[in-house]
Amino acid sequence: MNLIPERAKWQWVRRIQYANRIKGFWAHWDTYASPECQFSAYNKIYRGAFLGRSKLGRFTYVTNGTVYNSTIGSFCSIGPNAIIGLGYHPTDLLSTHPAFYSKNKTAGITFASEDKYPLQPKVMIGNDVWIGAGALIRSGLKIGDGAVVGAGAVVTRDVKPFSVVAGVPAKLIRYRFSDDVIQELQSWNWWDLSVDILQLLVDDFSARNDWTVEKIKRLKDASLT
Ligand SMILES: CC(C)(COP(=O)(O)OP(=O)(O)OC[C@H]1O[C@@H](n2cnc3c(N)ncnc32)[C@H](O)[C@@H]1OP(=O)(O)O)[C@@H](O)C(=O)NCCC(=O)NCCS
Repeated sequence: MNLIPERAKWQWVRRIQYANRIKGFWAHWDTYASPECQFSAYNKIYRGAFLGRSKLGRFTYVTNGTVYNSTIGSFCSIGPNAIIGLGYHPTDLLSTHPAFYSKNKTAGITFASEDKYPLQPKVMIGNDVWIGAGALIRSGLKIGDGAVVGAGAVVTRDVKPFSVVAGVPAKLIRYRFSDDVIQELQSWNWWDLSVDILQLLVDDFSARNDWTVEKIKRLKDASLT
């Protein structure tokens, strides 16, 4: 693919069409998103971000990182210089160079007449996930709802919902809530609520609280009335 006209198409056509069609969508001109990307309301794509073959849920924003071959839920925060969906080069061939197994002329030449090792499985990221600055997430992993990935982490295994992981390779630091509260949050799916309801609940969302199942249930009931 010739990236120069394609990048210009994003900057001058697609980016502006999305901003006109999708409520609250905004992308800085100095970004790129491939034609396969799908966006939702209130996505914000900050300067320097690069998105390929990815889907973002509503209110998710990406700072100047790379998001490739990924499906990301709603209310996610993707920190600066995060790289999600790392590329894959087979390590058990004579050479790891794509010129031998990919038709993409990554280095301007290819010896291959077919793509022998097509795209790796997608990264699947849930809702309300915070990915810290400079974190790397390997292709094909699942990051559960509510998870936090620490700055600089290299994530090589799936991340459980509402867990906090950090380090190289990323390891569990703690869970954000107790098991029963996590279960209750996952059955509530607050991230699907309407903007009006979320506005009504803002004080609960922004207060520090020792969350219990009963408190979450009360909030859940309030969100349904
Ligand atoms: C992961 C994070 C949220 C954890 O915060 P926390 O729960 O307050 O954790 P603590 O500071 O109590 O640290 C707990 C342990 O994890 C370690 N730790 C915390 N963050 C770490 C990180 N990013 N990498 C490696 N280890 C980390 C601490 O050293 C500590 O280890 P110890 O118990 O052996 O002393 C936070 O450290 C972080 O990385 N935030 C991301 C910030 C960022 O990228 N912002 C960009 C703006 S979007």
